[in-house]
Amino acid sequence: MVVVKVIDSDGGEHTLEVTDPSKSILDLAEDQWIELPYSCRSGACYACVAKVKKWAECLEQNKTGEKLVDTEEDEFLTCIGWVKNECVDKDEEVVLEMLV
Ligand code: FES
Repeated sequence: MVVVKVIDSDGGEHTLEVTDPSKSILDLAEDQWIELPYSCRSGACYACVAKVKKWAECLEQNKTGEKLVDTEEDEFLTCIGWVKNECVDKDEEVVLEMLV
């Protein structure tokens, strides 16, 4: 099963299991008692931005709405970002580094 490693802005590392692929990365983290930064939860503020360090092809954004802020190509908003369904059962690791 895919895991998501999140490196926080202090350098701490957290490993998320994708237990429910219908949930955003931010929601998965909260379910596993991992605090990640956020504000609007709707793709409008940039507070939850992360840089994708590994396996960008299995991440998707805008599943439930449009991203409302500009981001660089390798940046990812965890509040509106998911692991793609077709990647959930793969034995791989996604790595995200929080920028805030
Ligand atoms: S929390 Fe505002 S863009 Fe994600």
